[in-house]
Amino acid sequence: MVAAEGSVLRVREMRKSFPKPDNAEVRTHALDTISLSVAAGELVSFLGPSGCGKSTLLRLLTGLDTPDSGELWVGDEPITAPSAERGLVFQDPNLFPWLTVRGNIEAGLVARGVLREKRSEVDDFMRLVGLESFANAFPHHLSGGMAQRVALARALINHPKVLLLDEPLGALDAFTRMRMQDEVLRLWQARRTTMLLVTHDIDEAIYMSDRIVLMTPRPGRIERIIEVALDRPRQRNSPEFLNLRGDILELLHFAGDAH
Ligand SMILES: Nc1ncnc2c1ncn2[C@@H]1O[C@H](COP(=O)(O)OP(=O)(O)OP(=O)(O)O)[C@@H](O)[C@H]1O
Ligand SMILES: [Mg+2]
Repeated sequence: MVAAEGSVLRVREMRKSFPKPDNAEVRTHALDTISLSVAAGELVSFLGPSGCGKSTLLRLLTGLDTPDSGELWVGDEPITAPSAERGLVFQDPNLFPWLTVRGNIEAGLVARGVLREKRSEVDDFMRLVGLESFANAFPHHLSGGMAQRVALARALINHPKVLLLDEPLGALDAFTRMRMQDEVLRLWQARRTTMLLVTHDIDEAIYMSDRIVLMTPRPGRIERIIEVALDRPRQRNSPEFLNLRGDILELLHFAGDAH
């Protein structure tokens, strides 16, 4: 097993509210007293209803926004500002349309002035996501899954200690999505980056995660943390998988009314 590139992540009694758009005097509580510890190299998913603060939590972890109270730490360092050590990938790959695949993957290195010493890594990362033969293609030549792989390579090339994934596969069709889940797992296993994955897909959470955090409706709190103790690679149709799926549907009140 590869030594973990990832870092421990800690959130302590963190709260976040926003002014209401129509009345700045009133605040909406987006997240209420979140405490969580993620081990180095762990993959943790977040499942919860729309508006429960999942994206807010990831934004706070990037350092793009600050909490009302509480603490956020990566390793021994408090999070106070954005850093290349914490990568964020969204549902929309957000590629630069005027740059090639290579140009997009290099963009962060150019911005940090380290392209010269890291240039050979660009090829490594293109190979890692299987896009070496598309180095000179532009984003409009790529399928959704390929574009999302470029976005992942662009984040991974900074060797983030933490990779924050906000529904990164949400816009893909079901088959591409399942293939991409394997890609992300392969990248995770190759680099042992600590990963936080926001998803609305229960199967995706079970297939990929070490632990699943279930959130309450707004204001988002941690309702429960589920350990996924299934061997990897996981079988989507194994009885254990389907049992866990049933339990989570039940907990989220989506199992259907059996009475
Ligand atoms: N910049 C902002 N200004 C004001 N309110 C905000 C801001 N960002 C988020 N909110 C509010 O905080 C709450 C949580 O939003 P957030 O986007 O984190 O939810 P989410 O769990 O990611 O939802 P979804 O599953 O739909 O993506 C919502 O009520 C939202 O309106
Ligand atoms: Mg969101």
